[in-house]
Amino acid sequence: MEKEEPSLLEVKNLTKKYVIKNSIFKKIYFTAVNNVSFSVKKGEIIGLIGESGSGKSTIGRLILKLIHPDSGKIYFEGKDINNYPEKQFRRKTSVIFQDPRTSLNPRFKIKDIIEEPLIVHNVEKKKRKEKVVKAVIDSGLDESFLDRYPSELSGGQRQRVAIARAIVLNPKFIVADEPTSALDVSVQLQIINLIKKLNEKENISFLFISHDLNVVGMLSDKIIVLYRGKIMEKGSKEDILKNPLHPYTKLLIESLPPTDPFHRKHFENLIEIEREDVEGACVFYHRCPIAQEICKKEPETKALESREVYCHFV
Ligand SMILES: Nc1ncnc2c1ncn2[C@@H]1O[C@H](COP(=O)(O)OP(=O)(O)OP(=O)(O)O)[C@@H](O)[C@H]1O
Ligand SMILES: [Mg+2]
Repeated sequence: MEKEEPSLLEVKNLTKKYVIKNSIFKKIYFTAVNNVSFSVKKGEIIGLIGESGSGKSTIGRLILKLIHPDSGKIYFEGKDINNYPEKQFRRKTSVIFQDPRTSLNPRFKIKDIIEEPLIVHNVEKKKRKEKVVKAVIDSGLDESFLDRYPSELSGGQRQRVAIARAIVLNPKFIVADEPTSALDVSVQLQIINLIKKLNEKENISFLFISHDLNVVGMLSDKIIVLYRGKIMEKGSKEDILKNPLHPYTKLLIESLPPTDPFHRKHFENLIEIEREDVEGACVFYHRCPIAQEICKKEPETKALESREVYCHFV
């Protein structure tokens, strides 16, 4: 029997709490990420979707070791990231942020912005120029951009520069945190296509974070639906989009306007129900259209054949 390929990235029972009130009498915590597990195979794109504040960026930051979890483990190439050699980890992983206006240093020329990671990682000067040119071309720009400053570029071009910088060290895994949300609709599609191309040609794996299910649907192999730091449902793109099982995923899919793939949804207005929260209840209890008495107790996450669902009624 053929051995299944090991995961490039594995996230196991990850929990992150933030202190929201800290006085001498007591500390109050807010659980931003709640016992989250998933894996990413080589060359896979995992779409992570959820409304504002659901913990998407926190998961991205935990994976990139920018913050540390309260509990849980993250494995990269089979190794606990805390034991993974730091410099190699930084080289093999990368990030693209939402807003290229703030993620690029305005005082640097484009060539310096793209070259910087190469200098940090002691790449020989001779090879640096060649790598910068390749990265800028692979990102859909040309060499003439290298002598310009970020302020001389459009939003879409700036995001291409951010992508060139993210790929210049040939990473294996990129966290793309809402990379298209700040862009015009027409430019969004170009950036999505660029990410697809990088995934196919360079075999780069992505955690693609978005609050737009249509965008996630265009790119991802698998989709994770997050609500209040907890995975509601996780499965293949086809399963999630064509046959959602969790009531929250169903609401998201029903709200998709079929004729306008880039319609921006406002999750917060999607659900009219507002029940009082009950301690220890399902995290979706207060807004769930099908909640019953049993939902005042947390459901187990059920593993079905090809997906996982957090709901009593599945
Ligand atoms: N450093 C922090 N201290 C306290 N609370 C925080 C901190 N960082 C994030 N949070 C809280 O944790 C929750 C999750 O935040 P996070 O940024 O991960 O959400 P998100 O899903 O990325 O949202 P958005 O779609 O708005 O980017 C939010 O309620 C946020 O206010
Ligand atoms: Mg975020």
